Amino acid sequence: MEVFSRGPEQTRRIGMRLGGALQVGDVICLQGDLGAGKTTFVQGIAQGWRSLDAVSSPTFIIVNVYRRGDEARLFHMDAYRLDSTPEAEELDLDSMLAQGALIIEWPERMNGLVPDERLWVSLKHIDEEEREMKFKSSGKRYDNLLEVIRHAAYGGD
Ligand SMILES: Nc1ncnc2c1ncn2[C@@H]1O[C@H](COP(=O)(O)OP(=O)(O)O)[C@@H](O)[C@H]1O
Ligand SMILES: [Mg+2]
Repeated sequence: MEVFSRGPEQTRRIGMRLGGALQVGDVICLQGDLGAGKTTFVQGIAQGWRSLDAVSSPTFIIVNVYRRGDEARLFHMDAYRLDSTPEAEELDLDSMLAQGALIIEWPERMNGLVPDERLWVSLKHIDEEEREMKFKSSGKRYDNLLEVIRHAAYGGD
């Protein structure tokens, strides 16, 4: 599915809808060049998820953990600096997924360690205020999340 976002607010709003629907164990992959809107989208996801913590780019520490008013966690990983498979394997994805949802930026650098079932989001700069957002689901759970996004993008409120 493809959506053209006409500005950062729209990207954030779609993220909020997705964030509101996230459950423990969900995996969201986020692909896109610098300035494509990944952080903007994650800010929306975190807000919709009701994070108490502000989103920041986990460039140096690889994984940020956001909290909210219950036990659930939202993990925000940036694989940009991962340069070896052993390094990636040390990131205990299973234990993260047992506690919360996981957003992975630069998933293409994870050397096949990304779970097969996931929502894959590709963001692309089109124009100053326009971004192409492509969503691809793998697995039944993610077909459902795709519906949530379809609604956010096309289905009024
Ligand atoms: N439609 C849009 N969606 C997302 N960001 C947009 C959009 N239009 C303009 N922008 C701007 O583009 C920049 C995107 O930056 P950011 O979200 O940090 O990207 P990334 O994390 O992918 O590098 C922000 O300054 C944002 O305000
Ligand atoms: Mg960013």
